[in-house]
Amino acid sequence: MSNLKKYNNIQVALHWLVAILVLLMLFMGMTVLEETPNSDPAKIDALRGHMTIGGIILLLTIVRIIWRRASEQPAHVTTDNPLMDKLGVAAHYALNILTLLVALSGVGIAIQAGLPDIVFNGQGTLPEDFSEFLPRLAHGLFVKLLAALVLLHVIAALYHQFVLKDGLFCRISFRNPKD
Ligand code: HEM
Repeated sequence: MSNLKKYNNIQVALHWLVAILVLLMLFMGMTVLEETPNSDPAKIDALRGHMTIGGIILLLTIVRIIWRRASEQPAHVTTDNPLMDKLGVAAHYALNILTLLVALSGVGIAIQAGLPDIVFNGQGTLPEDFSEFLPRLAHGLFVKLLAALVLLHVIAALYHQFVLKDGLFCRISFRNPKD
């Protein structure tokens, strides 16, 4: 078993960068993007930003998963409740898998609707809306599951930090824990 007390600095940086980008995308996607009709010229700009950041999240998540497997990891946090410990491990896998599913279903909508040419090359026009595309249904569903899991993840982290007082945030920060 590893003696490490915290994640390495590359993991810390990737965690907070992806966290900020995912929160931004969830918020902007459910507000600006979803609320702007495809007939509005501003939709192209909104989609350009959304697709670019979504692509970056996809790449960073793949790098995160590879780096996690390639580098030494601290042991999972334990509490006095083994079921909660198992759920905690499962939630971390689910967060990565759902992030990949959200981003990949987004790529699916883009391919099916020919968005790369329309959005980045100015060729062609947007469909009336995306509801006829199956990946759009999946994207909407995965997005809601991801938002719910992110909320749970934040609540669990705050519970560890402020109720159990086990210094969980130190594990995912650049600071070295005091022994
Ligand atoms: C983890 C990354 C991503 C997140 C968190 C995210 C989030 C969202 C959200 C919240 C919505 C609104 C969905 C709803 O409320 O039903 C949305 C819609 C959409 N997303 Fe993403 N997305 C991501 C990646 C992508 C990628 C990579 C693409 C394409 C390359 C993409 C393309 C779209 C499109 C075309 C829509 C539909 C907009 C509409 O119906 O008007 N997304 N996304």
